[in-house]
Amino acid sequence: MQIFPRWTVKIPPMLAAAAALGGPVVLGGVWYYFSPKHTDVGYQPKQPVPYSHKLHAGDLGIDCRYCHTGVEKSAVASVPPTATCMNCHSHIKKESAALAPIRQSAADGSPVEWVRIHKVPDFAFFDHSAHIAAKVGCASCHGRVDQMVHVHQEQPLSMAWCLDCHRDPQPHLRPKTVSVTDMSWKPRPAEVAANDPNTRHDVNPPQNCTGCHR
Ligand code: HEC
Ligand code: HEC
Ligand code: HEC
Ligand code: HEC
Ligand code: HEC
Repeated sequence: MQIFPRWTVKIPPMLAAAAALGGPVVLGGVWYYFSPKHTDVGYQPKQPVPYSHKLHAGDLGIDCRYCHTGVEKSAVASVPPTATCMNCHSHIKKESAALAPIRQSAADGSPVEWVRIHKVPDFAFFDHSAHIAAKVGCASCHGRVDQMVHVHQEQPLSMAWCLDCHRDPQPHLRPKTVSVTDMSWKPRPAEVAANDPNTRHDVNPPQNCTGCHR
């Protein structure tokens, strides 16, 4: 019998032992022994270019997927290459000082060093495409990005947060008529979702440890 699964080598030894032996974790319950160290809500690093989601995604209405091209097909959403910005900025605001690092990058091929904001630890597995296929919208996990001048982390991305939705996903599942990038859609009562023929009812998000720790 494998007492310590593969992923436990990547987490603190005491916690790994407790987790692997089924110690203080209440499976399917509502509490965890593990100390919450989710201090990342509100994290908003300074970026190399003052790119505004409020302007581009909000006011101009550019769809999230124009830039975050991986989000429907892969684990990562991905941040756009310079060429995406230059589709417009080789014509618009050509002289803007704020855009100097973008022009530099386009000229010499050096990448723009965007600072990563959302990150789950390596021992936890997350895949965007599975969530998008089930019609969980960006706003459920990232908040109103279309109203953010500078993106900040809105949700804790903690294990308890993941499991809260995995236990009761229905309210967050959009009908197929509503886009995952529609930022104003709000979760609805489970009974309403359950009776909506346009919503998926066959989803079964993992609650077992190995669903997210592989
Ligand atoms: C014109 C391109 C563009 C569009 C459109 C766009 N984004 Fe972004 N997005 C970026 C860039 C560039 C970054 C990295 C800089 C930053 O964080 O502001 C980013 C960062 C992010 C991040 C933070 C990534 C991290 O490091 O954790 C999230 C979340 C995000 N975008 C969500 C969205 C959502 C949701 C939409 C649609 C409402 C959207 N974006 C539309 C270009 C875009
Ligand atoms: C679909 C077209 C489009 C794309 C793609 C686009 N932008 Fe823009 N951007 C605009 C428009 C339009 C403005 C506003 C121009 C104005 O204020 O007159 C703007 C303004 C800006 C400004 C403010 C410039 C200033 O001096 O006021 C920055 C910075 C910027 N964009 C960065 C980016 C970055 C970085 C990317 C790529 C991740 C990007 N943009 C992609 C259309 C675009
Ligand atoms: C179910 C929750 C959830 C949904 C829905 C979701 N995200 Fe994320 N997003 C996350 C988590 C968690 C991370 C950190 C992932 C990691 O560290 O591997 C993340 C990271 C990101 C990042 C930075 C890292 C990367 O993957 O490139 C971007 C950009 C992003 N999300 C954009 C989006 C956009 C755009 C949408 C909607 C089309 C979206 N996300 C929908 C939870 C979500
Ligand atoms: C707002 C709801 C929601 C949140 C928040 C959420 N999920 Fe999910 N998750 C789902 C749904 C819905 C599915 C799809 C299940 C299906 O298709 O049967 C899913 C599926 C998954 C799967 C299985 C898909 C696969 O590729 O194996 C994993 C793993 C997963 N989620 C991890 C996470 C992690 C890790 C977090 C937190 C960082 C998280 N989820 C947060 C709703 C959510
Ligand atoms: C829906 C996905 C999901 C499931 C299911 C899940 N976890 Fe986690 N777990 C996570 C995420 C995401 C983190 C990282 C949280 C953070 O960074 O705050 C995590 C963190 C942990 C940690 C580290 C805690 C710490 O404080 O550093 C342990 C130990 C752990 N999980 C054990 C388990 C055990 C045992 C189970 C089964 C009872 C389980 N997990 C089920 C997503 C999940």
